[in-house]
Amino acid sequence: MDKLVIEGGLPLKGEVRISGSKNACLPIMSACLLTDDKCMIDNIPQLKDVLTMSEILSFLGVDMELGERAIVRKSGSYENFTAPYDIVSTMRASICVLGPLLAKKKKAKVSFPGGCVIGPRPIDLHIKGLRALGAEIKIEGGYIVARAKKLQGANIYLGGHFGSSVLATANVMMAATLARGESVIHCAACEPEIADLAKFLIKMGAKIEGYSTPIIKIKGVRSLHGARHRIMPDRIETGTYMIASCITGGSLHLKGAESSHLMAVIDVLRQANCLILKTERGLLVKRAKRDLSPVSVSTLPYPGFPTDMQAQIMSLMCVANGISVVTEKIFPERFIHISELNRMGSQIFLEGPSAVISGVAKLSGARVMASDLRASAALVLAGLVARGKTEVHRIYHLDRGYECIEEKLSKVGARIKRIKDD
Ligand code: EPZ
Repeated sequence: MDKLVIEGGLPLKGEVRISGSKNACLPIMSACLLTDDKCMIDNIPQLKDVLTMSEILSFLGVDMELGERAIVRKSGSYENFTAPYDIVSTMRASICVLGPLLAKKKKAKVSFPGGCVIGPRPIDLHIKGLRALGAEIKIEGGYIVARAKKLQGANIYLGGHFGSSVLATANVMMAATLARGESVIHCAACEPEIADLAKFLIKMGAKIEGYSTPIIKIKGVRSLHGARHRIMPDRIETGTYMIASCITGGSLHLKGAESSHLMAVIDVLRQANCLILKTERGLLVKRAKRDLSPVSVSTLPYPGFPTDMQAQIMSLMCVANGISVVTEKIFPERFIHISELNRMGSQIFLEGPSAVISGVAKLSGARVMASDLRASAALVLAGLVARGKTEVHRIYHLDRGYECIEEKLSKVGARIKRIKDD
C-alpha cells in the first residue's frame, strides 16, 4: 500500500487541470449496456473506479477499450447478465448496471453492494423504482436477482428518508428508456451527473425531458444506438482544489472548472473570505483576506451543499477564526475524518448530526489513516497547511476518485510525494 508524505505550510500557486467527473463517468459507462452499438466516451478520468467499471462491463461480455482519456465500447452484443461479488464489493456504484441490464437483457443478477465507512448504503429506492416498471426482483444468496419480460412505463416517486437518490434515479431513468410507454420519476435527483447521463442517453436516441429538475419524463423507445459523449468536469475534484487554494492562502486557477455546478460551495467559501472569480477557462480561487471566517453549513441534495464536500470544508474550518458548524443530512455517519483531524490538533466535537469546529491557529503534521475517498482528501488538505510532516496512509481510497493528486499538487508548489508503505 502507498502513503502520501506532505510537508505543510506553503501557499499553492498556479493552474490545476480539472479531470472528467467520476460520478458522471460511472453511470454513463453503464448506459453503454443499453445498446449493442459502438460508443465513445471522452474526457474520462484515470481512476481506479473507472477501471473497476470497465472490468464489470468486460465481465458481462462488453468489449471495452480504455485509452488515455477515452473509453470505447466496441460494437457487438453480450450474453452475460451477472455482476459478480468480487468486483461489485469493491465499488458500490456497480449497482448502476442493474437498470440497463434489466432493460436490455430482461434479466440481471447483481451482487448486493455492501455498506461502507460513510454508513449503510441501502438500495430500497432502486428496487422500488424498478419494480414500479414491472420488474420481478428478489434477493438470493447476496445477489439482487431481477427479471422482466417487458418493462412498462410508470409514475414513480423515488424520494427516501434523506431525499432524492442519485444512482436510484440513474438506474430507473436508464431502465425507463426501453420500457413500453411513458415514465415519470418524481423526486428525481437533480445532480449535474444525472444531467450528463441524460444528455448521453438522448444522444443514444432516448426521449428524456426534465433532467436537472425533480420531475423527469422518459418516453420509452424500441432500441438505443451508439453515441459519443464528453464527460463533464468533476465538480467535487474542483471543490477540493478550491479548498486547497483557500486553506494554504494561495491562488489557483482551476482549468475546465464549471462554476454553475458549484454555487453552494462557492457561496460558503465566499462567506469564509475566499475570492472566487469565473475566468474564460475556469475558476480563479484565492483567499480574500488574511483570516478565514467560520461558517455554518448543512449538506443537502443538489443544488444544496454536497455531502461529498463535507469533509473538505471541515478541514478548512479547522483553521478558521472562530466556531463553525457542519451538519451532515445525507449520510449521518459520515464523520470518520473527525478523529484523524483531531490527531492533527484540530478541535472538533460531534453534537448529533453536527460537527462543531473551533478554529485553531495551526494544525500539526501527524501520521493519519485514510478511510474513505473524501475523508482522505480532507486529510491531504489538512496536511497542506499543517506545520511539519503529515503521512496519509491507505491512499488507495484517494486513487479511486482523484486523478494524479500528488502530481497536480506538486505542480502548484506542494511538497508532497507518494511512498511505498511498509
Ligand atoms: C452518489 O451515491 C455518489 N456516488 C456519492 O458520492 C454521493 O455521496 C451520493 O450520490 C450523494 O450525493 C456516485 O455517484 C457513484 P444516494 P448514491 O443514493 O447514489 C439514501 C463519492 O464520494 N438512499 O444519492 O449511492 C442513502 O443512504 C460518493 O464520490 C436510500 O435510503 O447516493 C443516502 O442517505 C460517495 N435508499 C441518500 O439516500 C436507496 O435506495 C442519498 O444517497 C438509495 C439511497
